[in-house]
Amino acid sequence: MWILVVLAAAFPLAAQVSPYRIERAPSRITLDARLDEPAWRDATPVGDFIFNWFESGDREQTDARMLWDDDNLYVSWRCQDRHISAQVTERHGPVSRDDCVEIFISPNPAKVRNYYTFEINVIGTMLNRCRTDWWTGPPTWEPEGVQYRTTYHGRARKDESSDDREWIVELAIPLRNFARDAAHMPPRDGDEWRLNLQRTGGITNRQNSTWAPIAPPSKSFHTPESFGRVIFSTQVAAAPNAEAGRKLYNANCTACHGLDGAAGDRAPALGAQRRYLRRTEAELFDAIKAGIAGTLMPASPLPDSQVREIVGYIRSIRATAIDFAAPGDAALGREVFAGKGNCAACHMIGGRGGIIGPDLSNIAAERKYEDLRAALTVAKPVPPRGFQPVRVTLRDGRRVRGVIKNENNFSLQVLGTDDKLHLIDRSQAASVEYEKQSLMPADYGKKLTPAELTGVLAYLSTQSRRRAE
Ligand code: HEC
Ligand code: HEC
Repeated sequence: MWILVVLAAAFPLAAQVSPYRIERAPSRITLDARLDEPAWRDATPVGDFIFNWFESGDREQTDARMLWDDDNLYVSWRCQDRHISAQVTERHGPVSRDDCVEIFISPNPAKVRNYYTFEINVIGTMLNRCRTDWWTGPPTWEPEGVQYRTTYHGRARKDESSDDREWIVELAIPLRNFARDAAHMPPRDGDEWRLNLQRTGGITNRQNSTWAPIAPPSKSFHTPESFGRVIFSTQVAAAPNAEAGRKLYNANCTACHGLDGAAGDRAPALGAQRRYLRRTEAELFDAIKAGIAGTLMPASPLPDSQVREIVGYIRSIRATAIDFAAPGDAALGREVFAGKGNCAACHMIGGRGGIIGPDLSNIAAERKYEDLRAALTVAKPVPPRGFQPVRVTLRDGRRVRGVIKNENNFSLQVLGTDDKLHLIDRSQAASVEYEKQSLMPADYGKKLTPAELTGVLAYLSTQSRRRAE
């Protein structure tokens, strides 16, 4: 009974955890068990897990975070673990014996006993139950559309190894699975749900930890009365400090850098389109905090919290389309790209398509969403460099139409609408007519339906090589 005594001292009955605000995902989430996207870096950790029934061994912490958008609840666990093992591969098998993470969710705080469980072991086997008063099916449950990835996903087993340090689970649960119990679907700003996040299983250092403490005498994760409170917020993760960061930046950094991240007299632009030397949050933080040795860039005396706000601001001005989850149906967009929009006649994506327009395979990493929309809907006053359309009539009567890649007083290099490069000596040309309008049609706002247009924009917003790096 000594365990109970210790427990009561460490976690009096009233032990509770403060409510966690689930913020909107600020950018696209790729389920690859890496958690390297800005969205996860910007998401707030739920806080340290509690070892409810601790006996011995190392207390290995878990960094868990949650985000949402209209479709999904996203959950990530980064688990410190020097002894990682798993062997259950059968769907709905006893995964909690293995190193395993769990989330139990009550979407209706007035009916906390209606809850749904997701248990995932480190090799990617999942067990689900629907413990609600309306469920009449079997003990296990098949949620719709759940997607997830674990560090050792798909392995037949994982044995403990001296290299073990940590493992990750990244999960997206479509919110529609909770439509029976939730007040609103998708949730509204301020909606409260109850849930708990857990870790369990493994061989060495097997221990049970949870986000919200489990009130004694219960010794089970299946204690919905102890679930923590979460509040859905329409605030986008990290967005609030970007504006504060902008003010701090403009007040502290413009002696050398330009206003609003532009180039200054003595230092480079921080937000312009170029290859940045420092890209990650940590690299930016260090450059600002410690300065850059051997350059004019000084160490900043600002407190860490303000440096972090400036980093948030720099990242927000650098963000391109790939960093935000674009609305719309990307699959429809892909069809329009190849079909009705005729985009593929002029543009390549992933090595297929025409060459008269720019290759769009990396466009989401190069342009902001608004730039993409403008490209499709607003005519440019003059065709951009490298894309000046021209009609040439040669003295022998042949005609070439295309865009000028290079020209000088004596010759023209024209990439023709036939996708061939024509080298034309001006002396052979009877006429050279420069067209005023770019070949890029700018009337897709009229030619496509609104759903087709947002679909194409969603499709373009996924075109980035960055993810493949
Ligand atoms: C005295 C002039 C000066 C001031 C003041 C200054 N910087 Fe710099 N900063 C520089 C110079 C010069 C560089 C380029 C260093 C190099 O060549 O690597 C630089 C580089 C940087 C970089 C790295 C850019 C990259 O892409 O690698 C960041 C980030 C940065 N500064 C942020 C800030 C912030 C934020 C502030 C204000 C808190 C600030 N700087 C104040 C001169 C300055
Ligand atoms: C007749 C050829 C043609 C067609 C059809 C066409 N484009 Fe273009 N597009 C171009 C050319 C040429 C440019 C470069 C000149 C410019 O930006 O006006 C361009 C530019 C763009 C840009 C800007 C690229 C950048 O680097 O900023 C985007 C985005 C784009 N096109 C997308 C599309 C999409 C999506 C479609 C179909 C819905 C489409 N284009 C149809 C020829 C075409």
